[in-house]
Amino acid sequence: MDSLIIRGGKKLSGELKVSASKNACLPILFGTLLSEDKVELISLPSLRDINTSVKLLREMGAVVSGELSALKIDCKNINKTEAPYDLVKTMRASILVLGPLLARFGKAKVSLPGGCAIGGRPVDIHLSNFEKMGASIKLENGYINAKAKKLVGAHLDLSFPSVGATENLMMAAVLAEGETIINNAAKEPEIEDLADFLNSMGANISGQGTSTIKIAGIEKLGSCTHKPIGDRIEAATFVLTGLLTNSSLKVSNFKTKHLSSLFSILKEMGAKMQIEENEVTVFPSELKGVEATTMPYPGFPTDIQAQLMTLMCRANGVSVITEKIFENRFMHVPELIRMGANIKLEGKSAIISGGDEFVSAPVMCTDLRASAALVMAALVAKGESTISRIYHLDRGYENIEIKLGEVGADIKRV
Ligand code: EPZ
Repeated sequence: MDSLIIRGGKKLSGELKVSASKNACLPILFGTLLSEDKVELISLPSLRDINTSVKLLREMGAVVSGELSALKIDCKNINKTEAPYDLVKTMRASILVLGPLLARFGKAKVSLPGGCAIGGRPVDIHLSNFEKMGASIKLENGYINAKAKKLVGAHLDLSFPSVGATENLMMAAVLAEGETIINNAAKEPEIEDLADFLNSMGANISGQGTSTIKIAGIEKLGSCTHKPIGDRIEAATFVLTGLLTNSSLKVSNFKTKHLSSLFSILKEMGAKMQIEENEVTVFPSELKGVEATTMPYPGFPTDIQAQLMTLMCRANGVSVITEKIFENRFMHVPELIRMGANIKLEGKSAIISGGDEFVSAPVMCTDLRASAALVMAALVAKGESTISRIYHLDRGYENIEIKLGEVGADIKRV
C-alpha cells in the first residue's frame, strides 16, 4: 500500500489545473449503457473509481477503447446485466448501473453497495422510486434483483434530495414510457452535467439543476461526444490548501459559480481571493473562525467539510462545523488532533479552537475527503509526516503529489 511523505512548511506558488469531476464522470460512464451507439468521453481523470467503472462496463460486455483523453464506449452488445459484489464493494457508485440496465434491458442484478466509513449509505430512495416506475425489486443474498417489463414514467417525490437517487432515476426515466417528474431532486452541478450528456444523446430532460426535473421518455438514444465539467471538490481542496499554506495560488479549469457557498464562507473568514469565471486566485490572508453547516447543493458541500475544518485549525478564534448530510463524517478529527489540532466533537458538530500550529505525525487515511484534509495539515506541519492508506486519496484526486509538487510542496509517494 502506498504512502505519502510530506515535509511541511513550504509556501506554494503557481497554478493548479483541476481534472474532470469524478462525481460527474461516474454517472456519465454508466449512462452510456442506455445507448446502442458509440459514445466518446473527453479528458476523463485517471482515478481508481474511473478505472473500476470501465472494468464493470467491460464485464457487462461494453467495448471500451482509446485513452482517458478520448475514451470510446460502445454498449451495443451488453450481454450481462449484473454488477457483482467484488466490484460494487470497492465502489458504491456502481449502484448507478441499476437505472440504465432496468430502462434498457428490463432487468438488473446489483450487489447492495453496503456502507462505508462515512455512513450506512442506504439506497431506499433509489429502490422505492424504481418501484413507483413499475419495477419489481427483491433483495436476495445481498443482491438487488430488479425486473421491469417496461418502466413507466411517474411523479416521484424524493424524501431527501439524494444525488445518486436523482441520477439513477433520471437515467431510468430517459427510456421509460411517458413522462417522469422528479420532485425534491438534487441540484448538484454533476446532475446538470449528466442531464446535458443524456440530452446530447437525444434524451428529453428539462429542469436539471432545479428541484423539479422533467424527463419525457423516448425509444432509444444515439451517440455523442461529451467533456465532463471540472471537479469543484478538487478545486475547493486546492483553494483551501492555498489559504492554509499562506500562498498566492491560482486554481483553474472549473466553474467558480459551483463553489459560491464555499467562497462566501471564506470571505467571512477574511480570505483574499480574486474570482474569475473559470479560475480563482487566493492570496495570503489573516483568517478568523466562522460557523458552517453542510447542506445539499447549493449549500456548503459535505465533500469539503473535512478540508475546511483543517483550514479552521489555522484561523484565529473558534469555529464550528456541523455535518448534516452523513452520520459519521468526522473520521479525520482524531487524526487532525494527533497532528496538534484542538477540536471537540459535540453530536453533529465539531468545535475547532484555531490558531495552533500543526505538528508532523504518522497518520492514516479513512475515507476520500478525510485523506485530503490530512494532506493539507501535513503541508503546514513542522517536520515530516507519513500518510498511509492513500488508496483512499487515489479514488478522487488524480496524481495529487505531482500537482502539489509542481507548485512547490515537498511531497513524495512511497
Ligand atoms: C454523492 O453520494 C457523492 N458521490 C458523494 O461524494 C457526496 O458526498 C454525496 O453525493 C452528497 O453530496 C458520488 O457522486 C459518486 P446522497 P450519494 O445519495 O449519491 C442518504 C465523495 O467524496 N440517502 O446524496 O451516495 C445518505 O445516507 C463522495 O466524492 C438515503 O437515506 O449521496 C446520506 O446521508 C462521498 N437513502 C444522504 O442521503 C438513499 O436511498 C446523502 O446521500 C440515498 C441516500
